[in-house]
Amino acid sequence: MPDETDLFEAARAARENAYAPHSGFKVGAALRTPSGQVYVGCNVENIAYPEGTCAEAGAIAAMAAAGEYAIAEMTVIADSPVPITPCGGCRQKIAEFSSADVVVSLANLQGPVTSLSVAELLPGAFGPDHMEP
Ligand code: THU
Repeated sequence: MPDETDLFEAARAARENAYAPHSGFKVGAALRTPSGQVYVGCNVENIAYPEGTCAEAGAIAAMAAAGEYAIAEMTVIADSPVPITPCGGCRQKIAEFSSADVVVSLANLQGPVTSLSVAELLPGAFGPDHMEP
């Protein structure tokens, strides 16, 4: 089963393929499902700026396309001294497929710098309980 190093390497490699001509800021993401499978994503920008997609969204789309719908662990990487954290929209996307204790590692090119749980990333998250009658 892949460990954190494998996820870091997978995210680092995916970041190389990021299409970020508009911001110049490449991001990679890798997630592991409970089955042990790893899925990766990178940011894919567009000249119509809002149409760009984040690395985390790409990894989640790859997971769903393969028929898996649960995140066990995730790593996000960018070339920044202070590691980036997922944007607000991606926090909600990650929460959709994660339990509150799932760990998201935040890395730069040197390696993982810190980590946050999904509960820490999105406190008070809107979830299915809110839709109970
Ligand atoms: N970006 C991501 O891919 N993930 C994040 O968590 C933050 C931002 C991308 C979006 C855009 O292509 C670039 O980084 C600059 O915002």
